[in-house]
Amino acid sequence: MAGKIPQPFIDELLSRIDIVDIINPRVSLRKAGKEFTACCPFHDEKTPSFTVSQQKQFYHCFGCGVHGNALSFLMEFEHAGFVDAVEDLAGIAGLEVPREQPTPGEEGRLASNKGLYELLERAVKFYRSQLVQHPQSHAAVDYLKQRGLSGEIAREYELGYAPPGWDNLHSALKVPPSDLIDSGLLIEKDNGGSYDRFRDRVMFPIRDARGRVVGFGGRVLGDETPKYLNSPETSVFHKGRELYGLFQARKSVRKLDRLIVVEGYMDVVALAQFGIRNCVATLGTSTTQEHLERMFRIVDEVVFCFDGDRAGREAAERALNNALEVMREGWQLRFMFVPDGDDPDSLVRREGSTAFEQRVEKAQEFSGFFYEVLSKQVDISSVSGRARLVDLARPLLEKLRSGVLRQMMQDELARVAQIDSTRLNSLLGEMKKSLPVTENTAKGWQSLSLVRRALLLLLNVPSLAQKAGESERFRSLPLPGIPLLCEVLLVLSENPEMSAGALVEHWRDHDNWRHLVRLMNAPVVVPQDGIEEEFDGVLLRLDAMLSEQRVDELRNKQQLSDQEKKEFLGLLSGLQNR
Ligand code: GTP
Ligand code: MN
Repeated sequence: MAGKIPQPFIDELLSRIDIVDIINPRVSLRKAGKEFTACCPFHDEKTPSFTVSQQKQFYHCFGCGVHGNALSFLMEFEHAGFVDAVEDLAGIAGLEVPREQPTPGEEGRLASNKGLYELLERAVKFYRSQLVQHPQSHAAVDYLKQRGLSGEIAREYELGYAPPGWDNLHSALKVPPSDLIDSGLLIEKDNGGSYDRFRDRVMFPIRDARGRVVGFGGRVLGDETPKYLNSPETSVFHKGRELYGLFQARKSVRKLDRLIVVEGYMDVVALAQFGIRNCVATLGTSTTQEHLERMFRIVDEVVFCFDGDRAGREAAERALNNALEVMREGWQLRFMFVPDGDDPDSLVRREGSTAFEQRVEKAQEFSGFFYEVLSKQVDISSVSGRARLVDLARPLLEKLRSGVLRQMMQDELARVAQIDSTRLNSLLGEMKKSLPVTENTAKGWQSLSLVRRALLLLLNVPSLAQKAGESERFRSLPLPGIPLLCEVLLVLSENPEMSAGALVEHWRDHDNWRHLVRLMNAPVVVPQDGIEEEFDGVLLRLDAMLSEQRVDELRNKQQLSDQEKKEFLGLLSGLQNR
């Protein structure tokens, strides 16, 4: 197995190529001021909101929010994996991709992830074969028939049967139990030993967006509980990320423009059987922000289809709440409910696909559903009730990070609360402005934390890092973001010429990637020739905080050595002279 690609090589690679040369042949760019623009290749649009910064070596779409460096672009645009994209770039730059000698542990892990996928794929085959061959499989086949599933759709979704018994997989697949435990298919006993997790169940293989099997859902044939068992979280299976049916939907619909999110595996399969092939289900969890971002990368419209009972309503409200923080303009998020007592599976079988599609067309808009949920908590017919509605809406609207979207929601609030918009504005008072607006004003700039200001300046002018000196000294400051700032300074001090786009590459697959990228898109309001001064100012303040911290420390000490006394006095006078 090839070792990891060393990070310094990726730094080098990104410093040798120009993102404009990578993007331009694929998407024709127009120069606009300091940047380049184009219609976004990742979503449909008529006016360009895709921008490429040559200085930062970074692209960003203000419409759909995609962003990244040259490497991410190739991965997204060419649907390439990380390694393939690195190889492509290296080819362009005329470099050979080196590999690290894998450390033994790493090799084990890399090998085992690949091994896990293979193992899970074999399990799919095994369960499918059992649905045909196992002496007791007629019960499962009858069950599927009684649920109305066609053989064709069962084949397409690769449904299988986990036979009864405790040791089927191990004896059939002949791989070490520890691997089967890692894959989630076997449960480890306290006294050693292990047994099959899925027994006497209909099996639904779960594939990730790239088509790799990552886990299973298994349903009992009768009324026993639990009705469903899912694979546990493993190194390849993360419930908050995957969507059941997404792979099949992408495969069978040439150009997906809408995804329908239903609650159950059976719902996805039944709808597909009726020709509604753009459905996905979460894996027994509520819809996460990651799910939403993933779906809106593919489509412009997501319709949540919930059961009509109380549980369904509650799930819808959770989904609504999760969506607030990630919502962007252009995202059409809608909500529909099937009649109480039905689920999408039973509904489509009873009403047929045309009627179901009509219901989807009539799904409620995000803002409508938002205010419907809030209105239920107040007496909308009274003036005080409507004022209360404004109070309820306020903290939720503050979560929206897009100014345009917030304005639209606010306009809707004015309508629902029957208040004219000037009055509403004064009722909402000083609402926190969304990020880009704040950072557009000098006052907003001053209100940013020191760490954010430092990071923002560094992303714009990476060479500033040279001025920071030994950056590790800041690590003891109890400020949010300090560890990231220290790491950024460290990386930049070792690579003075690095672009911001190459810098963020160090945090791929890490939460900090998002923080940095958000900062990267925030405009700096300091005039270009004042940037150094501003950075010096931030460093001075950080150093002053270090001094204060040290002064407190020494003050609280019982006995000071002569050395410490000198230090103490020195620090004090330093602080006074500021
Ligand atoms: P049936 O039509 O009864 O086969 O199920 P369904 O696909 O309509 O699922 P339902 O609406 O009852 O539940 C929605 C989803 O929640 C299922 O697809 C599972 O992912 C999950 N789920 C339901 N019951 C259980 C359970 O007992 N345990 C776990 N872990 N998940 C469950
Ligand atoms: Mn059902």
